[in-house]
Amino acid sequence: MHFQWYPGHMTKAKRMMQENIKLIDLVIELTDARVPVSSRNPDIDELGKNKARLILLNKADLAEEKWNDAWMEYFQGQGFSCVKVNSKKGGGMKSIHAVIQEACKEKIERDRKRGILNRPVRAMVVGIPNVGKSTFINSLAGKACAKTGNKPGVTKGKQWIRLNKNVELLDTPGILWPKFEDQSVGMKLAFIGSIKDEILQRTELAAEFVKFMQQNYPGVLAEKYSVEEDGDAYGILEGIARSRHCLVRGSELDMEKASTLLLDDFRDGRLGRLTLEYPDQI
Ligand code: G4P
Repeated sequence: MHFQWYPGHMTKAKRMMQENIKLIDLVIELTDARVPVSSRNPDIDELGKNKARLILLNKADLAEEKWNDAWMEYFQGQGFSCVKVNSKKGGGMKSIHAVIQEACKEKIERDRKRGILNRPVRAMVVGIPNVGKSTFINSLAGKACAKTGNKPGVTKGKQWIRLNKNVELLDTPGILWPKFEDQSVGMKLAFIGSIKDEILQRTELAAEFVKFMQQNYPGVLAEKYSVEEDGDAYGILEGIARSRHCLVRGSELDMEKASTLLLDDFRDGRLGRLTLEYPDQI
């Protein structure tokens, strides 16, 4: 199986990012808590150098709590501020404001020494597609979402959301292109649905997912779908098709449908909280 992302999209995303990053003090980088490293693009370290940095483990509700904590420790150990959040339900949002101030304290101090007081920190949310950028911005901005565009010092056409007197957020997130020289990273991004399904073979992807589950979460598929879990991955997919009545022409197993069902169950958290990569593998 081979994964790729279109170079045309990549060039455009990169150009936008370079343009917008000049305007901000703080990069709020969203990663998917289930794959916190594979869902990053390390180019952001170069693009965002000299900026304050905050990494969010988003969709923390879908990942195992003990690994969320381990990943927070990992990123903090690398010098990033890090918070786990559930943008969909608003979990973790309260602590963000304090963490933003903490992440930007050097900048605030620099401003203060130059006699600049009370200039709000300007922040931008970045991340690969589908990581939850828009959901996060809406959740953080909430009802206090007053747009403050086109005022002096603000580049024309850009919209800023004033979160409070200390922080302004660019209303458009920066899209990072997924990065994978390593096909196993591409595969994990496909599992979580960050790479569009039409460029993939569903059944092959689902079979790879079954193999991952056999190795890392034995028993989960057996319990969820009442299937024997020891056989080969395609056999297990057939078992899922059978137990969930995924059939074509009355009796033939519909493997495509079973694959979609399995991947959707995973992506929506119906297989429980699962983490696909671990700090000790890095
Ligand atoms: P993007 O801007 O980075 O491309 O991502 P977007 O906000 O559109 O979110 C992508 C999907 O991820 C959405 O689901 C959104 O609801 C979901 N999502 C975002 N943050 C979280 C989170 O913290 N936890 C969970 N469980 N889901 C999250 P969707 O299927 O596209 O839409 P819908 O099911 O919400 O209607």
